[in-house]
Amino acid sequence: MSLDKKYEKLFLNVTVQAALSSFKFVGKKDKVAADKAAVDMMRSELNKLNIKGTIVIGEGELDKAPMLYIGETLGTNSGLELDIAVDPLEGTNFAANNLPGALSVISVAEKSNLFGAPETYMNKISANVPKNGIIDLDYSIEKNINNLADFKNTQPENLTACILDRPRHKKIIEELKNLNVKIKFISDGDVSGALLVTDKKYNVDIFLGVGGGPEGILAASALDAYGCFFQGRFLFDNKKDKDRARKMGINDLDKKYFLNELIKGDSIFCATGITTGDLVSGINSVDGDYITETLITHKSTGLKKKIQIRQKINATE
Ligand code: FBP
Repeated sequence: MSLDKKYEKLFLNVTVQAALSSFKFVGKKDKVAADKAAVDMMRSELNKLNIKGTIVIGEGELDKAPMLYIGETLGTNSGLELDIAVDPLEGTNFAANNLPGALSVISVAEKSNLFGAPETYMNKISANVPKNGIIDLDYSIEKNINNLADFKNTQPENLTACILDRPRHKKIIEELKNLNVKIKFISDGDVSGALLVTDKKYNVDIFLGVGGGPEGILAASALDAYGCFFQGRFLFDNKKDKDRARKMGINDLDKKYFLNELIKGDSIFCATGITTGDLVSGINSVDGDYITETLITHKSTGLKKKIQIRQKINATE
């Protein structure tokens, strides 16, 4: 079954309102307040919808997150049963410091179709390649780059790899440098990083490295709509995380997940810019209005589009 088109507008409005709410805290050096504003607004907007929604990726577990916690049910409890993944403020540092790239993100799929990701790191890889076997988490960096260069009929030095700038990536970065691959370092925000492979205009051929697991699933939803390749492997490095994963039903802790194991069937993804980044523009105030830009994808309808919405400033107060 596919998700009705009417949900496109409804979920787009959810990230738009969350983004506008967080926007008030941009550049205030307060990550917590910026996040809370987005979380509160997203929750209140989701609760207005005629859905039986369950958060499968959210702000954490009930004991740590009073709102949008994993397992929380949202909506009017009538209508379609949906799995919901949220990152109300992706890039808390970006928002707090008024830096490029803060987003408000949601992905929805029908019940049991979205992987409930534990809050742990994930080793990820994405590229705009149509089939398995060209790139793979289990290949060496050299093999991935050479295969991708062959597929694109070019040389490694003409490829660009996007990676979070972290000490844990030292070895990968060295290998990419030795292969003469250009690197696009990102300081945060790897939902956007993973999605830069979707269009030539972003000049990124491959995204790789370790970032948040929840962010990986969110990106996978949009990558699915673009027909791109994604793999992820969760990294559990302590007993507590391993026990929690088993409790969530993950028995093979080393499993490499293909995109269609993380997100099944139809899905809608929305990412609204708060501050202007590579993927979408941030919020602009013009003549008493706010203008937002949202990247929306809907797998079954083929929708992949950036939508601008103009809204009166006082409508958000
Ligand atoms: P927050 O919005 O929660 O601050 O996350 C930003 C982020 O950069 C994610 O995009 C990324 O997946 C993760 O943090 C990486 O984590 P770390 O900063 O620990 O490397």
